[in-house]
Amino acid sequence: MKILVASHLERSAIRQLQERHDVVCTFDQPTADPFSLVRDREALVFRSGVEIARALMECAPHLKLLVRAGCGLDNLDCEYVRQRGIVLRRIPEPAAQAVAEMALAFMFALSRNIRQADAMLRQGRWAKDTLEGHLLAGKVLGIVGAGNIGSRLGALASMIGMEIIGCIADSTPSVVQTLRDKGITVADFDTVLATADFVSVHVPLSKSTENLINGRALSLMKEGSYLINLARGGVVDETALHAALASGRLAGAALDVHEHEGPGQISPLARLPNVLLTPHIGASTVETQQQIGVRVVEIIEEFVQQPMTVVRRDAEVSLARPARRDEVVHV
Ligand code: MLT
Repeated sequence: MKILVASHLERSAIRQLQERHDVVCTFDQPTADPFSLVRDREALVFRSGVEIARALMECAPHLKLLVRAGCGLDNLDCEYVRQRGIVLRRIPEPAAQAVAEMALAFMFALSRNIRQADAMLRQGRWAKDTLEGHLLAGKVLGIVGAGNIGSRLGALASMIGMEIIGCIADSTPSVVQTLRDKGITVADFDTVLATADFVSVHVPLSKSTENLINGRALSLMKEGSYLINLARGGVVDETALHAALASGRLAGAALDVHEHEGPGQISPLARLPNVLLTPHIGASTVETQQQIGVRVVEIIEEFVQQPMTVVRRDAEVSLARPARRDEVVHV
């Protein structure tokens, strides 16, 4: 099969693909022109950070298979994929634990002023008496999007004594019960915001979630609370967040995803001391990427054996549905 790997993929997965297929990688070649390299390709493997637009896919008349080596579909022209009948496979499951752990790491770092303590100590400032933090135990974690990742975070956070409240797009009685079994109380969006000491966002970016955390939503949050975003930059209105942080209404924020991502981009939030910023590394653990690499190879081999027909399903993969190892998506 002629494959284009457009995003960073685990090395041994690339080696295995190269043993059996004709593989072109663009992610390690900043000057490569994807529009010309995609022309004869039959499969395209990608993550976030590359735009899989209609114009690109139109240059690839033989394209039959898209493998999303992860979860989000916001960088893909789903409508065009549907029209063309291109098979799309995504691999959402491996990253869930990694992202949930990172959200927990953000909460620990924010509540104990880890960033400030480290920066001060590097300047010879021994701030033992001023850097008093707070326990997470006993605090309320509000999860916006208590799906695969969000509910996993809830389960982890309840183990350290946090109280968990969450909202979800399709809160059927069985979903509510499943979440309750994990220690998560389901409430509406406004209640989650108004009740939580930490709000963590875990919804996909779509028309309905764009700027979901806007000025109104931030104004509902408790005075002195924290916001965590490991979903997508577009879900949080960064200008409104800047205002809420600068005024001191919110105590802090941690963002792994940003409105503008990539080399050279510096978030306006970087000027604020009470903000933690990381470069979209929520899914970047060795173990996670190894698991994703294994699945990418399996998916391509399965497709070669038996090219699949497209399965019709909503583009917005339900937040509530139990996680599966990977999913065939018709968008
Ligand atoms: C994802 O959606 O899977 C994550 O954002 C990780 C990524 O693709 O880089």
